[in-house]
Amino acid sequence: MKHTARAHSIFCAATFLLSLLGVSAAAANDPSLQTSIFSPESAPADSIKHLSFLVLGISGAIFAVVTGMILYATVRFRQRVNDDGKEPAQIYGSNPVEAAWTIVPILIVVVLALSAARVIQQIQNAPKPESALDVVVTGHQWWWEFNYPKLGIVTANELHVPVSGLQKRLPTFLQLRSADVAHSFWVPRLAGKTDVIPNRHNQLWIEPQRTGLFVGQCAEYCGTQHAKMLLRVYAHTPEDFERWVGEQKAVQAEDPQVAAGRMVFERTACINCHTLDNTIADGRFGPNLSHLMSRETLGAGALSNSPTNLRAWIKNPAQFKPGVRMPAMNLSDSDLDQLVAFLATLK
Ligand code: CUA
Repeated sequence: MKHTARAHSIFCAATFLLSLLGVSAAAANDPSLQTSIFSPESAPADSIKHLSFLVLGISGAIFAVVTGMILYATVRFRQRVNDDGKEPAQIYGSNPVEAAWTIVPILIVVVLALSAARVIQQIQNAPKPESALDVVVTGHQWWWEFNYPKLGIVTANELHVPVSGLQKRLPTFLQLRSADVAHSFWVPRLAGKTDVIPNRHNQLWIEPQRTGLFVGQCAEYCGTQHAKMLLRVYAHTPEDFERWVGEQKAVQAEDPQVAAGRMVFERTACINCHTLDNTIADGRFGPNLSHLMSRETLGAGALSNSPTNLRAWIKNPAQFKPGVRMPAMNLSDSDLDQLVAFLATLK
């Protein structure tokens, strides 16, 4: 029994340490869910990794020296049976020693500060190439709005960007805004964490070097559902990105088969909070639904997107995300079926 308890506490401690590095059991099964800052896939994250190694190296050396001296003193000067119980001779005022423990830490701090300042400067003042993609990111309680002003696309929670090539750089420059409280945008493998502050526009850029999915999340406590304010960044080849842009810009033809569901949508309070092309809905409080089914998740990552999950979500969003700002609309089962049938056509 004792062994089991100890094994359990060791396991918990190890899990905690690994979680600090962003390595979780889920990540072990699916590399795309990895969030470690030590496996960067984008220029700013790469500079941050190198700086982290320098800081960890210096801190590790200080830790080893201090711990080593404490252990040495503890063992060497431990209490013995023949001690006379008197205090040892006290030493005061050694100028070389005083100078050493003042100057060495100052030098260490200067090295750390200058290295960090250089990396921050390199990232923040990076020139923006003509080919860069612009996205305005707005943090809401508890979801992300992504607006591509030059492309006329508005989507939510899942950011799509092109990968950057060596010949033609295609970084994405993000302008970070908040609609309510302070949030923080963090996709560890792509860039450092940047706060999203009301009445302020912060900047961040990412430049993925390979295609794939990169996950992250809001990194500043912003209320009840802070934990379910997840981020997904999809890096595509330039051709696939163009295809995605085309799909998002396409205006959907009205499907007469789901006209009943469309009616349900238009006469329900959905329209006050959501925008949906070709309908009277132009709300900005919740995500734009124009291409809802092109997303892989619902509720900012609370559950995967499928008609079945969508129905359960609309029936009672708080079941998946307690405290969510979207209320249950108390629709009848048949209204719900028609509404979901309509929404499921929004590819
Ligand atoms: Cu948004 Cu935490």
